[in-house]
Amino acid sequence: MSVIRKANSFIKDLLLVSRVGVLLAPLRFPAKFFYNFSLLSSWVNKNSGKVPYKDFYTPFRNYDNRVKLHEHVVNSEGLAKKPIHYLEFGVASGTSFRWWIGTNQHPGSRFFGFDTFEGLPEDWHFFKKGAFSFDTPLLEDPRGTFIKGLFQDTVYKFLDNYRANIDTPEATRVLHLDADLYSSTLFALTMLAPFLRNGDILLFDEFNIPNHEFAAWNDFVRSYYIQYEVIGSVNNFYQTAIKVIK
Ligand SMILES: C[S@@+](CC[C@H](N)C(=O)[O-])C[C@H]1O[C@@H](n2cnc3c(N)ncnc32)[C@H](O)[C@@H]1O
Repeated sequence: MSVIRKANSFIKDLLLVSRVGVLLAPLRFPAKFFYNFSLLSSWVNKNSGKVPYKDFYTPFRNYDNRVKLHEHVVNSEGLAKKPIHYLEFGVASGTSFRWWIGTNQHPGSRFFGFDTFEGLPEDWHFFKKGAFSFDTPLLEDPRGTFIKGLFQDTVYKFLDNYRANIDTPEATRVLHLDADLYSSTLFALTMLAPFLRNGDILLFDEFNIPNHEFAAWNDFVRSYYIQYEVIGSVNNFYQTAIKVIK
């Protein structure tokens, strides 16, 4: 056994010093895509039978159906009339933010939207860095706040204040992850991990993109041992709603 172990490390270190791995650079993207696509397929295979609200399989996506998913979550979880803390990561022009703040009228609810408002900080999928750049939307409801800047620069400070002042036990947290990128999604999930409670809701807007939101979710779940159930999805899991179990 120790001979095999020694041979294994000898060969690996030899390959490392030979720099042969550098020649494999063109294979990185396809290898990563197929790896994550395989994980996503297994995830769908394992979960789709148990999801109470879904359209899988539908031949044509209709992006507007995400509203039906959000309505389902609000109705099935009784979120219209109870206090919620809605945190949206990726606000852009504010379409989904406005929907949530208009749908939940509880005076104790709070709505926080995080965005650079200068667009994506990296290229994503078919979009270039800077896509989705909008002026910070106007907000008349005093329950809502926009936090402008990179999540990586704003969320630590926000959470210090949140922990000290407004982390109330009765509010269900709704985290809307709509930042598209692997890095942004994983960062937001990681920051919020210590705050997650039983019954909190996570909404993903581009869940079934293998190298981005799905990969971030998969790495997060594996690293933080998160237990959850999938409570809804539309557009073949493009938009997916998850409930935390603690
Ligand atoms: C698809 S848009 C959000 C759309 C919006 N939720 C809606 O439904 O109308 C994605 C947004 O995420 C933001 N974003 C992505 N990564 C970010 C990061 N690390 N920090 C701040 N904003 C980020 C981009 O600026 C962009 O506006």
